Amino acid sequence: MNSNIVLIGFMGCGKSSIGRRLAKRMNYGFLDSDDLIIARAQGTSISELFAEEGEERFRDRETAELRELVDAKNIVLATGGGAILREENRALLHRIGRIVCLHADPETLFERASRNRKRPLLNVENPRGAFNALLESRVPIYEAAADIQIDATGLPHEQTIEEIIRALALDLNEKTGFEPSRASGSSV
Ligand code: S3P
Repeated sequence: MNSNIVLIGFMGCGKSSIGRRLAKRMNYGFLDSDDLIIARAQGTSISELFAEEGEERFRDRETAELRELVDAKNIVLATGGGAILREENRALLHRIGRIVCLHADPETLFERASRNRKRPLLNVENPRGAFNALLESRVPIYEAAADIQIDATGLPHEQTIEEIIRALALDLNEKTGFEPSRASGSSV
């Protein structure tokens, strides 16, 4: 089984900051799909790309970056909050690695996501209304796409990372039928 880890979740759930630390902890490389898009667009920001080209073209760029990652090894990938919208992307993400969805409560998400003007989808007349509508429509998609779900509400990043590592190990044991008690060498 592919050992890469893919982080999904709504804007502001901590995919990038947690992903960076998780990668360090696991001695993996860290990639962020938004950063890959920006780099390929020679430094053009996500907001500028949305304004200049529109959301669909941004989504094409997102899909193109994910296609590039299907053979990646030993990486943690933080995805943009909308990366799970396209069916093709969801299939690509499953090929890239095991998918961990990070949840947080709406107040935390909104506070973090609207802290700066880097998120064009919230840079609208009624940001809270847009946020609520997006969150409501996307939560079921995140849940369905995830192999593992972590509620990071109120947790320090280090604790979230511990939870992710523990949940991934449990999930792997379940899928492979591995029983730690039998493998420990004890005769009981
Ligand atoms: C988006 C989330 C952003 C970025 C773009 C669109 C979305 O990434 O990809 O603004 O559709 O939710 P973050 O989730 O890292 O903020």
